[in-house]
Amino acid sequence: MPKNTLSVTDNRTGKQYELPIDSGTIRAVDLRQIKLAEGDQGLETYDPGFLNTAACRSAISFIDGDKGILRYRGYPIEQLAERSTFLESAYLLLNGELPSAAELDSWVFNITHHTIVHESIKKFIDGFHHDAHPMGMFVSTVAALSTFYPEAKHIHDETSRRNQIFRLIAKAPTLAAFAHRHSVGLPYAYPDNDLSYTGNFLNMMFKTTEVKYAPNKTLERALDVLLILHADHEQNCSTSAMRGVGSSHADPYSAMAAAAAALYGPLHGGANEEVLKSLREIGSKDRIPAYIDRVKRGEFRLFGFGHRIYKNYDPRATIIKRIAEEVFDVTGKNPLIDIAVELERIALQDDYFVSRKLYPNVDFYSGIIYEAMKFPIDMFPVLFAIGRTPGWLAQWQEMLLDKDQKIARPRQIYTGPEKRDYVPIEHRG
Ligand code: CMC
Repeated sequence: MPKNTLSVTDNRTGKQYELPIDSGTIRAVDLRQIKLAEGDQGLETYDPGFLNTAACRSAISFIDGDKGILRYRGYPIEQLAERSTFLESAYLLLNGELPSAAELDSWVFNITHHTIVHESIKKFIDGFHHDAHPMGMFVSTVAALSTFYPEAKHIHDETSRRNQIFRLIAKAPTLAAFAHRHSVGLPYAYPDNDLSYTGNFLNMMFKTTEVKYAPNKTLERALDVLLILHADHEQNCSTSAMRGVGSSHADPYSAMAAAAAALYGPLHGGANEEVLKSLREIGSKDRIPAYIDRVKRGEFRLFGFGHRIYKNYDPRATIIKRIAEEVFDVTGKNPLIDIAVELERIALQDDYFVSRKLYPNVDFYSGIIYEAMKFPIDMFPVLFAIGRTPGWLAQWQEMLLDKDQKIARPRQIYTGPEKRDYVPIEHRG
């Protein structure tokens, strides 16, 4: 019977060690016993960007990057996109199981009845410059929410945690829509509790003078599916930020503001905005080869392509491509889709992309749909943030309940000067 251990020989000392293997990993702290001399801090691992380091055990989402598989709590993303709703999937992520009918009713009721924000929030938003990026406003107002709910710092109190989870999922679309209304100079549209989560978001975004906003059912469902697709994605950059900040026992509003800030970057949730800018810059199919040449020369990246984990087609991109057709039946075709499809075709035949296993990711087609639905480009990362909110919260809660977890505090390899004495300014060169 083979042993579930790893034998290590330290060739500096000739000593041998046997390290237990559990779930395909060794514990990094087990390396500490491998030392040159008593008193030294022992061997560490060096892993910038966490390419090969598991920072937690998690039961929330599962990705097989080679096979292009994504599951939430075991359920394939394709089935959830086909049959679930965003709020039901959010419940699943947070609670581990699909809800009963009564559980779902109560969950939806609670989210629906926490959508209104304190009137003072409007004053913050009013204070932003007219051309402030909505993601900047979103990050700031999520952080500001913590000042309205001081009890949120009781992170070990289950009832308090549950209330903040209701509030964050409920208020994320309100903050997002208010940020948009401020940008375009429209009066804020208040939540309408008669509508679904996504229908209400469309209402708060796009309502003008009508007495009651009636969302288009196809667009409402398409947006709901897009939110499902974004809801969780194991230990990505923003989720790691949520866990990292949460590990210091900060309240969930502060932790989620940090997560949203991490999402804002163009390598993560900001990529959907960049894709649209690229497609517009390309402008026509005949200009694609020249654009790809510039990517290959290293001038810039092809946004919406590549992924740390997926080395195959991102399953979310496949579903999004299908939704695009349904949306275009209502909105008319976004001409950028033809450029995107051709760009994908050419890239996937090119050795640069093939050899590096760079495939379209979730951000490649999502922006084209958002644009067809009349969302301004700078709202795209905010839409991603609304979708990812339940995932961030599920991961935050899992982290708090995990006895193995401690405050996030990586090690470093110090490369600075040795000790030296302070030099008075008149003696410096
Ligand atoms: N365009 C051109 N080259 C790329 C791209 C790209 N989009 N992505 C990776 N590469 C190249 C990279 O230059 C490197 O080449 P080489 O080996 O010659 O140096 C190789 O592929 C490996 O790239 P990497 O940067 O080491 O890979 P990573 O795992 O650190 O980065 C990534 C993953 C998503 C940041 C990266 O693929 C990227 O920048 N993509 C564009 C931004 C994007 O679409 N982000 C959204 C990701 S999906 C939504 C989300 O979860 O955030």
